[in-house]
Amino acid sequence: MHGDCEKILFDEDEIHRRVREVADEVNAEYAGKRALCVGILKGSIIFFADFVRLLSFPVELDFMSVSSYGGGAVSSEKLKIKKDLDGDVTGRDVIIVEDIIDSGFTLANLKQMLIERGAASVKTVTLLDKKERRKYGITPDFNCFEVGDEFVVGYGLDFNERYRTLPYIGALKRSVYEK
Ligand code: IMP
Ligand code: MG
Repeated sequence: MHGDCEKILFDEDEIHRRVREVADEVNAEYAGKRALCVGILKGSIIFFADFVRLLSFPVELDFMSVSSYGGGAVSSEKLKIKKDLDGDVTGRDVIIVEDIIDSGFTLANLKQMLIERGAASVKTVTLLDKKERRKYGITPDFNCFEVGDEFVVGYGLDFNERYRTLPYIGALKRSVYEK
């Protein structure tokens, strides 16, 4: 385990098992349809790559980059589009793939934005849900794991751009993010 982590919350095997289960739930719901999977950069990329390869219905992929975090551990309540989608979502069934839902600000705003752009439907898939920190009324349609009020890294998730490539999801030591 990386020395900056306090503990491993979910190891590689557990993640892959659970991602497959969630992909199966999504497959059941989208059978006979096609969808546009929108990955939210950069935190979702590892999850996204594993997840979309398990989908059994036709999908197209697009990406968006937004930021609500200034680089630290506290949400700054301002959603900024850093990179928009390449394509048009009008009439499309969209599946937003996100690393983690915390206050819900990012997903609530993204979902609303894509609905306003004319998407036929917008569903959300998250790797992690910090349920107890929710401030905006949004619940992911599909979620892999719940986590408590701690800062987590790995499997795509970062703290100041570090730790994304750890193959497991770990809780970062408080001393690392509170200094
Ligand atoms: P929200 O807008 O408050 O729901 O925050 C969601 C965003 O905050 C996610 O897309 C992550 O980028 C980031 N985030 C929230 N909690 C964590 C964490 O524990 N580790 C890494 N990123 C996090
Ligand atoms: Mg993110």
